[in-house]
Amino acid sequence: MSILTLSNIHKTFKTGEIEEEIIKGIDLALPRGGITALTGASGSGKSTLLTIAAGLQPATSGHIYFDSIDLTSLNPDQVRKIRAEQFGFVFQFAHLVPFLTVAEQLTFMLEVAITKQNKKQQAQAVEQLLERVDMQHRSSAYPSSLSGGEKQRVAIARAVIHQPQVLFADEPTASLDSKRSTEAMNLIRDITKQLDITTLMVTHDSDTLSYADHVMEMQDGKLC
Ligand SMILES: Nc1ncnc2c1ncn2[C@@H]1O[C@H](COP(=O)(O)OP(=O)(O)O)[C@@H](O)[C@H]1O
Ligand SMILES: [Mg+2]
Repeated sequence: MSILTLSNIHKTFKTGEIEEEIIKGIDLALPRGGITALTGASGSGKSTLLTIAAGLQPATSGHIYFDSIDLTSLNPDQVRKIRAEQFGFVFQFAHLVPFLTVAEQLTFMLEVAITKQNKKQQAQAVEQLLERVDMQHRSSAYPSSLSGGEKQRVAIARAVIHQPQVLFADEPTASLDSKRSTEAMNLIRDITKQLDITTLMVTHDSDTLSYADHVMEMQDGKLC
């Protein structure tokens, strides 16, 4: 049984007078658990499909089912709530908030996603996960003092601190050298397993593909 199902998704962008169909009728069933990689040439529509699957932008037509909820039938507030509570996000760059410490980046996400935890429970969850990603020793550091690899480890921790069901990762290793890429991918793989998360990862890097349990390839707006 898939956790996320896309049914006949189309996406058209209009730039001035010109309409271009970027996603051309995609059906996709994301298997529950493990890492599914979405690969394909630059410009084939991978990031667009990922953001549609995650409810970050609407499709022009088609349906998205999360468990059995049709996200396309919900209002924007309802989609936002599901996204905040059930989904996590990692991108090419860590996008940490410059004026929050490492621990505060995670606490902030917890406050958005889980309202019923008290301060002590939050602090415990943050400390545990920072230990897991080997960043506990930098918990009161600001992003500007972290290396690229450390920033990405914090970004991965922040993406899963609320124990989401689905982690969406768009080229999570594209800004890292090969050693840091390997570290980040090992971390994503371990966390996916340990927290029982389903990860959908966009990548065009063949080394990264070896971490995937399932691979899907896009070509010119279609799955092939
Ligand atoms: N908001 C947008 N407006 C117009 N065109 C867009 C927009 N977002 C993406 N595109 C176009 O859609 C195509 C696919 O982009 P993208 O999904 O980013 O591909 P990929 O992630 O596979 O490199 C590109 O030609 C891109 O220019
Ligand atoms: Mg992309």
